Amino acid sequence: MRGLSGHPTLRRLLCGALARGPGLFARPNSGGPSWTRERTLVAVKPDGVQRRLVGAVIQRFEKRGFKLVGLKMLQVPESVLAEHYHDLRRRPFYPALISYMSSGPVVAMVWEGPNVVYMSRAMIGHTNSAEAAPGTIRGDFGTHISRNVIHASDSVEGAQREIQLWFQSSELVDWADEGHHSSTGPA
Ligand code: PPS
Repeated sequence: MRGLSGHPTLRRLLCGALARGPGLFARPNSGGPSWTRERTLVAVKPDGVQRRLVGAVIQRFEKRGFKLVGLKMLQVPESVLAEHYHDLRRRPFYPALISYMSSGPVVAMVWEGPNVVYMSRAMIGHTNSAEAAPGTIRGDFGTHISRNVIHASDSVEGAQREIQLWFQSSELVDWADEGHHSSTGPA
């Protein structure tokens, strides 16, 4: 007997964008679509906070059906920024990036859901606002690559590292999702 993944429609789903990352169908046979818990770090950068875009960003993630499990506004310590952007430390824009990220408060969030890392990156759009597609957050709100409104982790491993760096475990809330969310409501 062929397994679930032998079904043509399911196979298409499993091989397509929905199956990217270690998410969907990771725990079959548990009743309905199931997934390994995936979380990502999203941060509205100082320009996004100053332009009053926090609510618009949160609304997009909520409407997509993701679950907010951590939220705080902070002036990010330079030590955190140095670690967060460690891989970029030799890039010419590094000093400007650190200075910009220190220029005002940031709103940091942890979002949870199936494939949330991959889908968040799709939602925020290209790093360079000039190349970001309309409908993405940077495509709609970004003004320049150096003022691109939002950060989202770029991999599952990166997300785990960044969440640990930005949040204490006591700041993250596990709450029961009773299925009242809507990812299909009007925009
Ligand atoms: S890379 O390494 O440039 O290819 O990578 P990318 O993932 O696109 O960007 C990594 C972070 O660097 C920021 N960035 C910049 N900031 C200021 N000026 C310039 N020119 C610039 N180029 C890239 C970019 O916004 C990414 O930061 P986060 O916080 O992840 O959005």
